[in-house]
Amino acid sequence: MLLNAVAPLSLLLVAPHTPQVSESCLSQYYYGTHGQQDVFITDDYVCVSDAAAHLSSGSAVQLTEDVQQLVWLQHQAVEPSIKPPAFQDEFNAFFSRLSVPAAASTDSEQTVFSNQNAAKVLLRTPTSALISVDSSTALTLDLHLPRFWKVSPLPPAPVPLVPVPSEAVQRVKDILHGLKFDPVVASIVSNISVPQLRADVRYLTGESPQSEIVSRHSFSKGVLIAADWLKANFEAHGASCKLKPFLTGFAPNVVCSYEGSENTTETVLISAHYDSRGSFGSVRAPGGDDDGSGTTALLGIARVISRKGLKFRKNVQLVAFAGEEQGLYGSRYYSRELYEKGANLTLMIQADMLGYHAPGEPPQLGLPDIIGTPEVAQLVANLSAIYSPELKVGFTPACCSDHQSFHQNGFPATQVFERAGPIADPMYHNSGDLSDRDGYDFDQIKSIAKVQFATLLHTAGFDLP
Ligand SMILES: *[C@@H]1O[C@H](CO)[C@@H](O)[C@H](O)[C@H]1NC(C)=O
Ligand SMILES: *[C@@H]1O[C@H](CO)[C@@H](O)[C@H](O)[C@H]1NC(C)=O
Ligand SMILES: *[C@@H]1O[C@H](CO)[C@@H](O)[C@H](O)[C@H]1NC(C)=O
Ligand SMILES: *[C@@H]1O[C@H](CO)[C@@H](O)[C@H](O)[C@H]1NC(C)=O
Ligand SMILES: [Zn+2]
Repeated sequence: MLLNAVAPLSLLLVAPHTPQVSESCLSQYYYGTHGQQDVFITDDYVCVSDAAAHLSSGSAVQLTEDVQQLVWLQHQAVEPSIKPPAFQDEFNAFFSRLSVPAAASTDSEQTVFSNQNAAKVLLRTPTSALISVDSSTALTLDLHLPRFWKVSPLPPAPVPLVPVPSEAVQRVKDILHGLKFDPVVASIVSNISVPQLRADVRYLTGESPQSEIVSRHSFSKGVLIAADWLKANFEAHGASCKLKPFLTGFAPNVVCSYEGSENTTETVLISAHYDSRGSFGSVRAPGGDDDGSGTTALLGIARVISRKGLKFRKNVQLVAFAGEEQGLYGSRYYSRELYEKGANLTLMIQADMLGYHAPGEPPQLGLPDIIGTPEVAQLVANLSAIYSPELKVGFTPACCSDHQSFHQNGFPATQVFERAGPIADPMYHNSGDLSDRDGYDFDQIKSIAKVQFATLLHTAGFDLP
């Protein structure tokens, strides 16, 4: 598939993400934010020169008509202690594998890409690259990437750049300003059970003898087992769930709802992604931390909702996304659907990686440094101080989970993460990402889940029987 409507002489512009861009003429040529960079494609040179005045830095590439699917590759922010290889050192080997035409390869191990047309590199920085590959290669790139790289495919056409409306931000500020400790909330959120979190995550990773799951990669058999199991468990705790397919070959999103008692369209959404990624060449992708931990936290919250007989005043959704590891696919589709329906999301919070902190470090809560709604992050930080004071709260440069899709569609959103700093989990994107290992801390998962749950309770309102 070629990019739709790439006119000859189109320019591709890349600039660090800034909220101001929504006011620029460039907003109509927006192709998403990738690796915290805004990407635009246009042949409107008048707009480009007008906009250049507002961009403090950036790069431009002339596109040719043979560009195929464009994919952003980004090296994650990782602690030096786990010795991540430099992006530049791994790039050449990766790209030469990518460029081997299938027929010319004799070694079956190396025949990993059936690239019809030559792959091309359009842009490189010390920690990222923009490449052009055919679309089937683009969908399966994550299987072959060096482990600290994330992949983010560009959409085939411009997408709307929707700022979060000021009324929506004001609603979050109103909740923040009225905030005070509520002993009922404290007793509800502390009911999350650590032994149950452990049992649930061990099912998802396949560590439990009762589980047949070997991988929860988006295209695996195990991820479909996980989807059915999640739906059944959320439903057993009073939610109404749907498996919502979004793209052929991918596991579906698991979307679970609780109808509010008030007559309102307002909806509060909390989420995680249940797909996972393993090591290159290994079929195992247990995803115990990434993101078995966030998925299990959601289920732990659902179990308490049912145990306490909670009824929410506003509508609530608990969503487990698929396709995150291929480039936020599940959340791109679902957030777009909600935007097109005019959904009224008060806020959304994605939990992605809650379980790990380096041995010797205190339990932590990381909030995204750039992508997301600062007011939602502030609300979460303040609720953390109130209900989980044991957590050391700070920002993380580890970037870009499913909250980004919602934020791009104008919904107030943030993420909760396991560290106030870069990724330190030595089993990140590795087939050894199990729950039974040093540094994997169920108490930290519970502490962060309490914060996500408290935000839900303070935002949606609730009644007890
Ligand atoms: C939120 O926390 C900040 C400090 O982190 C504090 O200054 C502010 O007063 C808090 N706001 C509320 C409403 O509690
Ligand atoms: C949760 O609440 C139930 C009853 O409401 C109680 O039996 C259980 O021990 C509580 N669990 C925790 C971890 O607080
Ligand atoms: C709910 O609110 C809508 C719009 O405000 C109104 O038209 C409708 O009658 C209300 N329904 C009930 C059951 O009160
Ligand atoms: C969302 O709900 C609030 C509260 O009911 C209402 O004031 C607001 O107009 C709604 N917004 C949209 C976009 O429906
Ligand atoms: Zn993740």
